[in-house]
Amino acid sequence: MSHAEGGTTHATEPDRLRDEALQAIASARDLDELDEVRTRHLGKRSGLAALQRTLGQLDPDERRKRGQAINAARTALAEAEAARRAQLEAQRDQVQLAAEAIDVTLPPRTPARGRLHPVHETMEAMLDVLTGLGYRVAEGPEVETDWHNFDALNTPPDHPARSLQDTIYVHRLDGSTQLAEDGPTGVLLRTQTSPMRIRAMQSSQPPLYVAVPGRVYRSDTPDATHLPMFHQIEGLAVDTDLSFADLKGSLEVAAKALLGEDVALRFRPHFFPFTEPSCELDAFYAGRWMELLGAGMVHPNVLAAGGYDPDRYQGFAWGMGVDRMAMLRHDIADLRLFIENDLRFLQSL
Ligand code: DAH
Repeated sequence: MSHAEGGTTHATEPDRLRDEALQAIASARDLDELDEVRTRHLGKRSGLAALQRTLGQLDPDERRKRGQAINAARTALAEAEAARRAQLEAQRDQVQLAAEAIDVTLPPRTPARGRLHPVHETMEAMLDVLTGLGYRVAEGPEVETDWHNFDALNTPPDHPARSLQDTIYVHRLDGSTQLAEDGPTGVLLRTQTSPMRIRAMQSSQPPLYVAVPGRVYRSDTPDATHLPMFHQIEGLAVDTDLSFADLKGSLEVAAKALLGEDVALRFRPHFFPFTEPSCELDAFYAGRWMELLGAGMVHPNVLAAGGYDPDRYQGFAWGMGVDRMAMLRHDIADLRLFIENDLRFLQSL
């Protein structure tokens, strides 16, 4: 009797465990939960496994029946688990697909487009004008000898421009005792693009029409109108029949091409060691006269230093500041903005 009662209780136990597990499988909300359910209800420490371990204590008839019930429960659970798993996997894939979906109708993020720096762009505009007038473009070294930068340009050793205040020296040539007039005694950062005049004359025969863009250096403290590094374009024309009238005409054409036909210009007498006579050219811009460039007829000593016969050839030359021209063109009050590389400034031009 007690045996039969016990048998009845035991016979329903696998079904009870199965129903409990089926319930848990059905309510697993994701694959992680389903894994837990499987361990708890189908694993080694599940109720079914415990029940299975007690089979040995039963008599053969009971053992067979209960064994079958346990197996049936296991099979049912395995099927239910597999079905729920398939369901949950499909659900997960769908969520993932939705999350990864690409909306092809969204406007694209446009990458920021680069542009030429305003100083560089002004330089190119100037060179465009000059090449249009027949000049070729040549570049020279930024680290120059004192001879090319000064002596060959008729600037004697005691000239104020040679003092440490204005010039950034790199070094003196080792053991040199010679006078600068005879050849290089030191190396410096060129203070002007003018030394390239000498190199251009040395490397080609007249007629010569050359424009030299580039960086120049002075030991200046940066302020609104000075930078220790700035840009110049040098122009040099050497031919057999050039006069000051040619210089004026060429510079007037170039300045108007850059600043507009209506711009007011004025030539002022000036002094430069490497030109005689010399002048400066101003433009009336934004309510005031602004100095654009220095110019003049090439000094005979300079022609000779370049290897040209001063009795046969004349030339005119000029050097203009590119940065200040860029200031004029963009109506900017402070040169330092050009070297800060603040994108908000650069993009506003
Ligand atoms: N090199 C001069 C400067 O930096 C500018 C200059 C003046 C250049 C007269 C010239 C010139 O070629 O003839 O201030």
